[in-house]
Amino acid sequence: MSFAVNHLRIGIPSKGRLSELATELLLQAGLNFRRQDRSLFARVSSIPAEITFLRTDDIPTLCSEGAIDLGITGSDLVEEAQADVVVRMKLGVGRCRLAICVPTHSDIEKPSQLKGKRIATSFPNTTQRFLNQHDAPVHLVKLNGSVEVMISLGVADAIVDLVETGSTLAANQLRILTEIGQYETVLIQSPNCRDTVTADRIVRRLEGVVIARDYSLLEYNVPRSKLAAAEAITPGFTSPTVTSLEDTAWCAVRAMVKRCDIIPIMEKLESLGALAILETSINNCRL
Ligand code: PRP
Repeated sequence: MSFAVNHLRIGIPSKGRLSELATELLLQAGLNFRRQDRSLFARVSSIPAEITFLRTDDIPTLCSEGAIDLGITGSDLVEEAQADVVVRMKLGVGRCRLAICVPTHSDIEKPSQLKGKRIATSFPNTTQRFLNQHDAPVHLVKLNGSVEVMISLGVADAIVDLVETGSTLAANQLRILTEIGQYETVLIQSPNCRDTVTADRIVRRLEGVVIARDYSLLEYNVPRSKLAAAEAITPGFTSPTVTSLEDTAWCAVRAMVKRCDIIPIMEKLESLGALAILETSINNCRL
């Protein structure tokens, strides 16, 4: 199978956790496709687009070169490749930090003290740019993985690596000297996108899913005398929906609430005298 000439090409990681996340997101957004075993392409059934499965770190360059029109990858890799692409949206997953790390008991306290040291990393360009700003020329050891063991192997004095939970650092007796940047999974678009109308349509679909993942729908009954206070607690995305109840002293409120705030908000509403407080998940939305 090969690409249809006019179809939009979407590059997603071919394997790993990011591949699963990207696939799930696209399917949830109604871009249905089925990957045949080991195939590098899949046709999207309902929209003039095709998926191609690529190495995550090649996606920024292939997108800037116009080989693909949209891509799902890490913003860390976009920065490292200095790719000429537009970041259309953050996908709300894969959040991590890129950090310079040194042994726990090292006496190095600031980046300028790294002058002349050996630094192992898979992010040589980002590291070089950062250390240039700190006037600290270093010897870079460029690697493709397992960077965290390079100090104990005697290959480096410090490393620059991604940190998510920090457990890899702890396991290797390393600590963060300084953070270079914060990154996450993003949708990127080529400056030479062959079908911007379809690209915009796909972005809207993905936004619907990504925003919905962050919010819940909260419904409750509250005494009308407490409505203003309740609305201040749940102002909603634009404004809450308020409906009358048979008992005119009460009303029902419905509002979108950030999922991470749900529990404290329910507690505040309960203290206010609200009853029948219900949380419902939202699968998709258009706001
Ligand atoms: C990444 C990164 C660190 C680890 C950080 O490695 O390079 O090693 O995750 O995560 P933590 O802070 O939660 O421990 P990855 O698993 O992507 O493999 P890699 O070594 O090939 O980069």
